Amino acid sequence: MTPYPEGSGPRPSDPGKITVPDVSRRKGGPPLVMLTAYDAPSARAADEAGVDLILVGDSLGMVVLGLPDTLRVDLEDMVRATAAVRRVQPRALVVTDLPYLSYHTGARDAVLNAGRLVREGGAEAVKLEGGRKRLEVVRALIDAEIPVMGHLGLTPQSLHAMGGYRVQARAVPEIEQLLDDAQALCEAGIFALVLEGVPSDVAGLVTERVPVPTIGIGAGAGCDGQVLVFHDLLGMTSGPAPKFVRRYADLHGAAVEAIRAYARDVRERTFPAAAESYRLPREAAAAVERQARRRAPRAREL
Ligand code: KIV
Repeated sequence: MTPYPEGSGPRPSDPGKITVPDVSRRKGGPPLVMLTAYDAPSARAADEAGVDLILVGDSLGMVVLGLPDTLRVDLEDMVRATAAVRRVQPRALVVTDLPYLSYHTGARDAVLNAGRLVREGGAEAVKLEGGRKRLEVVRALIDAEIPVMGHLGLTPQSLHAMGGYRVQARAVPEIEQLLDDAQALCEAGIFALVLEGVPSDVAGLVTERVPVPTIGIGAGAGCDGQVLVFHDLLGMTSGPAPKFVRRYADLHGAAVEAIRAYARDVRERTFPAAAESYRLPREAAAAVERQARRRAPRAREL
């Protein structure tokens, strides 16, 4: 794969470019806005709209690749998507998910795999799921100068262990475990923490207790920021959306309408029109015409 071309994206020193320290400093400040993106057009739209962080999420498996869960997404998928996002040179900080099994087998594998996201994809930070049991990996990544965002609560890569996509931390022992995991991750050096699928009061409590910004999805309004999946926000997914999704558009519906209109125009021969077609220069057109007339009798003779 072609490495991320050096010098083609904004550098941390470029005016306006959002960096990891900028995100850390936003703890308790104006809410951080994060949105997923998986390719150049989605990254361009998110960046032009002024989001603070673009997450190249492994939700790509479900919303782009049509997979049933995130478990089958691999490192190649994430490297390619990250490189596409970085090619548009976003001002937003680009964070990429470490996919399932790219960090579960130990710190060395995690560093090598995250290193590919950084060197080949251009990721500026990585996100991984899990608490205390990931501390060794988190420390190794940070030692390798790769900033880490944590992800606790409903962690989709633990789908089978959780027994489905269920709201987490609803009872006292689970809440204590969540607080302990969050604090341990912060001590290990994460710069931000995603809280997914937890009751609002629990997310609010974690947000109060930890020194890094929390970014919620299905975690209520008390977090330091919010994240949504691009395709959910724009109405590009099929079936009912989860409770926490707010749809700001119906782009799937708009796309179907536009494609129906195109199909109608093709069938009615109103597309393409003369203005949408190429024409020969006058002399060449006359020559073609003469050729056609010369050939026509021969064709009839056959
Ligand atoms: O992959 C993803 O989109 C995520 C968000 C839901 C936080 O991890």
